[in-house]
Amino acid sequence: MHTSQIDLVAFGPEHLEGAVALSLQAGWPHRPEDWQTALAVSRGIAAVTDDRQVVGTALVTPYGTDCATINMVIVDEAARGRGLGRRLMQAALEIGSERQLRLVATTDGLPLYEKLGFQPVGTILQYQGKIPAIAAPDGIEPACEADFDAVMALDRAAFEADRRTLLTHIAKAGEFAVLRRAGRIQGFAALRAFGRGDVIGPVVAENLQDACSLISFFIVSRPDAFLRIDTTADTELAPWLESLGFAHVGGGIAMRTAGRTEAPARSHYKTYALANQAFG
Ligand SMILES: CC(C)(COP(=O)(O)OP(=O)(O)OC[C@H]1O[C@@H](n2cnc3c(N)ncnc32)[C@H](O)[C@@H]1OP(=O)(O)O)[C@@H](O)C(=O)NCCC(=O)NCCS
Repeated sequence: MHTSQIDLVAFGPEHLEGAVALSLQAGWPHRPEDWQTALAVSRGIAAVTDDRQVVGTALVTPYGTDCATINMVIVDEAARGRGLGRRLMQAALEIGSERQLRLVATTDGLPLYEKLGFQPVGTILQYQGKIPAIAAPDGIEPACEADFDAVMALDRAAFEADRRTLLTHIAKAGEFAVLRRAGRIQGFAALRAFGRGDVIGPVVAENLQDACSLISFFIVSRPDAFLRIDTTADTELAPWLESLGFAHVGGGIAMRTAGRTEAPARSHYKTYALANQAFG
């Protein structure tokens, strides 16, 4: 394969099949539907050969005007080590322009991202498994349409960027649950089909106990389901997930560029589980 014959083009429907093959080759569980969701909320780049083979991908997912994640950065094994990953990242950085850019680096991607100026800000832990029956939590209920603005506000406070577009897609494909106290929503969790089963996330709460209750709600509602949860080491959710029977299967390093950020009003709400590793 000759890297000189590889062009970067806007990702189109004709690249989907090749992209799914690339993520499978990288050992990632994304189904065509997962790529379609990602593409619906992102701008994509495909690296294609003269004979239209897809040998690389990168997506930029904007959140409001200040922040974006770069995700699904993959180069075909046969084309690695010849600068294509850097070319894809440079194209992604141009799309992201002046936003603060966030990503989760795998071991493969870390050296490249460090060279491009990304700084590590945390550790992502990926958990999955089929969980035996647990007790139903108190105080958690399915969200209704009228709850959505409050859910958005909590997510924005915890994530420090506006993810309305992404959360609207997740709501269409899945479901939300909320923790309501004294008539106020004080935490939420989402669940949707993803990869080999369902992913629980994002989960936003004020404290670990509330986060565990929100996650328990979906574990109880999905007996026998294969569940995935991506969390961060600093949430201290991991020991509880392990006690339930979730297996630690991977993760990465959360990284950011400096860029523009929202007002630094620190919220006491925290993201206990990511939408997934790609979306943050
Ligand atoms: C990460 C990935 C996209 C890189 O693609 P690639 O085409 O091999 O990348 P490049 O050839 O452009 O190399 C990128 C840079 O990283 C450097 N690099 C790669 N591995 C390195 C290592 N172990 N130590 C130090 N530097 C390393 C290269 O030297 C290069 O630096 P340079 O541009 O200054 O010369 C590719 O390995 C991949 O698809 N991995 C599987 C999927 C994945 O994990 N993606 C990352 C998601 S976060």
